[in-house]
Amino acid sequence: MSQATIIDGKAFAANLRADIGRRVAVLKQRHGLTPGLSVVLVGEDPASQVYVRNKGKATLEAGMKSDTYTLSPDASHEEVMAKVEELNNDASVHGILVQLPLPDQVDSDAILNAIDPDKDVDGFHTLNVGRLTSGQDAMAPCTPVGCMIMLKEVVGDLTGKQAIVVGRSNIVGKPMAALLLKEHCTVTIAHSRTRDLAGECRRADIVIAAVGRPRMIGGDWIKPGATVIDVGINRIDDASTKSGTRLVGDVNFDEAVETAGAITPVPGGVGPMTIACLLKNTLTAACRQAGVAEPE
Ligand code: GUN
Repeated sequence: MSQATIIDGKAFAANLRADIGRRVAVLKQRHGLTPGLSVVLVGEDPASQVYVRNKGKATLEAGMKSDTYTLSPDASHEEVMAKVEELNNDASVHGILVQLPLPDQVDSDAILNAIDPDKDVDGFHTLNVGRLTSGQDAMAPCTPVGCMIMLKEVVGDLTGKQAIVVGRSNIVGKPMAALLLKEHCTVTIAHSRTRDLAGECRRADIVIAAVGRPRMIGGDWIKPGATVIDVGINRIDDASTKSGTRLVGDVNFDEAVETAGAITPVPGGVGPMTIACLLKNTLTAACRQAGVAEPE
């Protein structure tokens, strides 16, 4: 069996980011409009700090306005709400992202639903979730959008394909299933209580792994030639590295690469595309709010 094509998420993301940067320049020149993204981080979670820093950097590199607000780990629900309201009312802010998870004293659902749906670049507001699942034009969550861009490029027309999404989170699993359905896939949503998960996976032409369990999906779960998109980012111990740890996905890559037709690596697969799609959503949001056409 020949080895799978490795899907280069970094290259996909670099292309998309360059394209967005070019379109932002057109927008500035034609309409004097600079898209703005504000990110709210509550607390000091090291992984969240890294994500937020990377988002800010990428936003500036695309020529957009970037603001990051860091609130203390014991910020009250009302304080976070007040920040969201302030950003809703700021016309120079076109996109608002509240980094998850939020501390326990903050009601995450209420915060996400307080964000102006037009500025909801994460696509987590109930209105946008409803639009997506009912097949309307919607701001869709960044990670699933990134997965779809790569899938369509690698597979082409997805009509009639058997797709399985392993994981049912609001951030990835559920919106991913909605997007696959929109492209006319036959979609299974599997999760930790699915019976015969391996058998369900083996029937799939497309496997989306988003369970958060390191290397859970073995090579013998993958149908020969299937396309595998690994959303998992898990840190495991590895004495052979300098840090003593390394990142792995939800798929056993070394096994699956022997069976799959194409597969995303971790790191360097889905991760870079998520940030690129955040910029894409911010550009779209800015154009809609300004009432101008999105530059080609
Ligand atoms: N935490 C982990 N992933 C995400 C994401 O896509 N958006 C937000 N806001 N927080 C996250």
